[in-house]
Amino acid sequence: MVGAGVSTPSGIPDFRSPRSGLYSNLQRYDLPYPEAIFELTFFHHNPKPFFALAKELHPGSYRPNVIHYFLRLLHDKGLLLRLYTQNIDGLERVAGIPASKLVEAHGSFASATCTVCRRPFPGKDVWAEVMVDRIPRCPVCTGIVKPDIVFFGETLPQRFLLHVVDFPMADVLLILGTSLEVEPFASLSEAVRSSVPRLLINRDLVGPFAWRPRSRDVVQLGDMVHSVERLVELLGWTEELQDLMRQEAEKLNGRDR
Ligand code: OAD
Ligand code: ZN
Repeated sequence: MVGAGVSTPSGIPDFRSPRSGLYSNLQRYDLPYPEAIFELTFFHHNPKPFFALAKELHPGSYRPNVIHYFLRLLHDKGLLLRLYTQNIDGLERVAGIPASKLVEAHGSFASATCTVCRRPFPGKDVWAEVMVDRIPRCPVCTGIVKPDIVFFGETLPQRFLLHVVDFPMADVLLILGTSLEVEPFASLSEAVRSSVPRLLINRDLVGPFAWRPRSRDVVQLGDMVHSVERLVELLGWTEELQDLMRQEAEKLNGRDR
């Protein structure tokens, strides 16, 4: 399970960190309160702040970091049952983790839907408009086309239901870079069997690790890059990870040229 903390080392702000978090830096968008940027009622009143944020988060402007590639390495080694992410930056895909291994629980910019007639559109149609500061409109009914990001109160994507089969099968649960404050995602942390070790790697102690710890919980607090590098070292994977990152950096350099 991952959250915004895995992408801060890529330069993308998280939501709730004091000062640096997105929710304390939205003044310029003139929102009644920060979470309104992901609320439908506000979106219908004024969609501009959401699209301005979308433009800022445009995939391609950021690169995966060592944490994403550690997860990729878990996949390469056949150790990743599934990656549940709350992130909408798409960096797990860029890091080469196949869509079949991913549950993008809060949606993605890969597709979009007309808010009026519900017609689906490919994400790229929306980006073309967003990048030139236009509000994407449905060519059929002129309704606003909203990327399939899950707003507060909206249902999660169908794939989220995979948790029903995945979590009882897990041998270990890694929880990285999330405040575990948003439901239903946060409660997944309680869905593994009680004998299954849960490893939290985060700056601070969060969620059930604080208020309902289990005897097999392991917690590594502090900066995540450092913690993940340390874990990789203990696993003896340091060189392999460096090779993978070199090879992927070359691919991305090719992409960006
Ligand atoms: P939060 O911003 O709530 O939590 C991020 C966590 O990562 C915090 O506990 C930070 O301390 C920690 N963190 C950040 N950078 C770190 C670093 N370098 N080292 C160690 N820890 C670090 O983000 P999420 O839990 O992902 O919804 O937020 C959940 C949802 O709330 C998001 O998906 C978003 C938001 O509303 C949507 O986008 C729809
Ligand atoms: Zn429409």
